[in-house]
Amino acid sequence: MKIAFFNTKTYDRQFFETANIQYDHEITFLESHLSPETVSLASGFPAICIFINDYLNASMLETLAKGGTKLIALRSAGFNHVDLAAAAQLGLEMVRVPAYSPYAVAEHAVALILSLNRKVHRAYNRVREGNFSIDGLLGFDLHSSTVGVIGTGKIGAIFAQIMKGFGCKLLGYDTYQNPTCLNLGMEYVDLSQLFAQSDIISLHCPLTPESHHLINEAAIAQMKSGMMLINTSRGGLIDTQAAIDGLKSGAIGYLGIDVYEQEADLFFEDLSNQVIQDDTFQRLLTFPNVIVTGHQAFFTSQALSNIAETTLSNITEFEKTGNCINIVRMEQAIASVK
Ligand code: NAI
Repeated sequence: MKIAFFNTKTYDRQFFETANIQYDHEITFLESHLSPETVSLASGFPAICIFINDYLNASMLETLAKGGTKLIALRSAGFNHVDLAAAAQLGLEMVRVPAYSPYAVAEHAVALILSLNRKVHRAYNRVREGNFSIDGLLGFDLHSSTVGVIGTGKIGAIFAQIMKGFGCKLLGYDTYQNPTCLNLGMEYVDLSQLFAQSDIISLHCPLTPESHHLINEAAIAQMKSGMMLINTSRGGLIDTQAAIDGLKSGAIGYLGIDVYEQEADLFFEDLSNQVIQDDTFQRLLTFPNVIVTGHQAFFTSQALSNIAETTLSNITEFEKTGNCINIVRMEQAIASVK
């Protein structure tokens, strides 16, 4: 199938070209993001492939449909960047990659915990400058710490498994109790108990209207003073201003985030020669006890291979049968984000 790949980086090309040896699709790699200005580039392509920071609104979807596009292949799991109702109305189909490497994200959450706790980011700079003082680098044993996991699906369960290995006590909050987590000895509690008892809280639930700003001023007020908050899920789960206030008061002792509410304007691009205009983001970077990574938790070679393989197989299946195991059922999807 002829596919227009928007927003591609060198690493996308590398993994997709390798996977496509088997599928033989006619791929055109475009560097541009999908936007109202670039959407016309898709004209004549029956399929397009987009990433999480390519937004598709109703009028862009209309342009796609008019240009002959039938299939939107998401090289991501989430679909909250597409106007689903408009896509359904125009008869556009969508496929996605439901899981590519839960280990990648869970392990990155652990990387943030270890770095923040043992202040690796600060120690690295000190030693390079010949400063071998360890004053200010005091950490705590993870062993016997209480870890609260919000969202105990695929990633949350693997994260829980790893933290169990450190000897942590596990608390969980989810509408569904995952047997893997129960087997690890996780105790499911309500949110206020999880907030009150956890030394570390890690977010692994999706962003929905219900979970938007789950971590807000009221939630932070219930937490243990000096706790550690980790978010590798979606930026909108945390009210960033409330987190900044929590950091200033000491209520939050450590913050590790791979995602940020307004990340679409920043992440995945080299802005090192520009003045960043987002003052809230810049304020976050001033804290010594904050680590921000730019949505890289998924970024392992295994995950990229899986994304490429599943995306191309989705497109082949759709081309052959008009259906696909990873098709997004529009009505269900619309209901899930309402
Ligand atoms: P999953 O669907 O396996 O698990 C999500 C769990 O969250 C489910 O058990 C669900 O019942 C639970 N949940 C839903 N709403 C909730 C709420 N309001 N409170 C508590 N629990 C709730 O999803 P998976 O694969 O574990 O992914 C989790 C999240 O990780 C994704 O939604 C995505 O936002 C994020 N993610 C981040 C990546 C990154 O690179 N930083 C890459 C991939 C996913």
